[in-house]
Amino acid sequence: MKRIKITELLTPALIGQEVTAAGWVRTRRGNKHVQFVALNDGSTVRNLQIVFDMAKFSDEELKSVTTGSSIRVTGILVESMGKGQTTEIQANSFELLGAADPDTYPLQKKGHTLEFLREIAHLRPRTNTFGAILRVRSALAFAVHKFFNEKGFFYLNTPLITASDCEGAGAMFQVTTLDIANPPRTEDGAVDYSCDFFGKTTALTVSGLLEGELGATALGAIYTFGPTFRAENSNTPRHLSEFWMIEPEMAFYEIEENMELAEEFIKYCVRYALDNCRDDIEFLQQMYDADLISRLEGVLADDFVRLTYTEGVKILEESGKKFEFPVYWGSDLQSEHERYLVEEHFKRPVIMTDYPKDIKAFYMKLNDDGKTVRAMDVLFPKIGEIIGGSERESDHAKLLKRIEEMNIPMKDMWWYLDTRRFGTVPHSGFGLGFERLVLFVTGMTNIRDVIPFPRTPNNAEF
Ligand code: 4AD
Ligand code: MG
Repeated sequence: MKRIKITELLTPALIGQEVTAAGWVRTRRGNKHVQFVALNDGSTVRNLQIVFDMAKFSDEELKSVTTGSSIRVTGILVESMGKGQTTEIQANSFELLGAADPDTYPLQKKGHTLEFLREIAHLRPRTNTFGAILRVRSALAFAVHKFFNEKGFFYLNTPLITASDCEGAGAMFQVTTLDIANPPRTEDGAVDYSCDFFGKTTALTVSGLLEGELGATALGAIYTFGPTFRAENSNTPRHLSEFWMIEPEMAFYEIEENMELAEEFIKYCVRYALDNCRDDIEFLQQMYDADLISRLEGVLADDFVRLTYTEGVKILEESGKKFEFPVYWGSDLQSEHERYLVEEHFKRPVIMTDYPKDIKAFYMKLNDDGKTVRAMDVLFPKIGEIIGGSERESDHAKLLKRIEEMNIPMKDMWWYLDTRRFGTVPHSGFGLGFERLVLFVTGMTNIRDVIPFPRTPNNAEF
């Protein structure tokens, strides 16, 4: 008999029919007359109750049906009398697919800490919490593609191995096939990368932006959605060494349209999750974050504040609040500053623009003041920066000047500069850190808990 997913079995549609379910046992309890198994197959946070009438089964048969074991069971789907359950299966037969020794199965009891679960990241998807998070994550990824597809954007795949450092922030993971213990050397003793696999030094990408611009200035509007790698040694609850980023890039967009798109995009994703992941979000709210749904709805209800960096710094300076890091015009804002503006001052998301050019990347369009660039960061409650973007410098001479000022190796940039030499257009885009979005929507507080296999300094076990 074909297995039916528990999401479907929990609706009244199949009541009265014989059905087959399969999954992992969460708990078994009962007495010598009747035994109840809570079964979960990952399709929903809710368990399906299986009722074993012990007139039909022996204790011996049920002995190995322990927490963590996997079974397939066939029986009649009936309406459940139990509180909070719609249906249950009255078992006629079952098969033990895989036992899980109660002495060694790590998820024997409920209520493990998130820290402990990180140490068993290979098994944590079996918990209600990670099941919920991973389903929300999957739904959000679908929402991303749906949003851009509906807007007529094209999905562009940009390379993971690259020879250019887009953000200029340093910290890239080098990719090489050279023997690091004994690399080939040039006459002056330096490592000879012309002998490396690609004939030059290469690294994992920190952003698909530069290649995204090539796509946008041909197809009009594109988005990327892929893994991104940063070798910064930042051990914070908001940084991963490997994360996923969504980078839309649009020809003929100036900064205002870029801001409008960013706001519409985030709201669309949050709305999609609220509409399609209700059980999981309610579960996470109940377990971890009592304000979750009202925070999500709050973001949908309000227009995001538009604020310049200069105005923002003034508010922070006048706030009288003691920050760990000092704020002054020219300083890079820390998440404590961003969160003060969003959570305490405005009480809604903020899009901050026109940052000092010295704290932003080379490709951002210079304002007429010569001091600030047309950058935009979207700042969110609990998260701080969730999106970073800008209008791009489309003027060839100005861009060249910035590249020189910032000492960016010019020979690696020739292909990028060609976009400004041939048919340059105003264009803009931004990058959304996918895990920061998942953090926000799930109410989790550590980014390691919203990606199945987190990569952080000293952690690449699973
Ligand atoms: O602000 P960032 O560095 O911007 C860029 O990479 C641009 N090229 C984007 C663009 O304009 N196309 O990164 C964008 C976003 C951040 O706002 C943040 O949400 C996320 O990516 N992010 C990280 N997320 C997790 N771990 C890290 N180490 C992250 N670094 C950035
Ligand atoms: Mg940024």
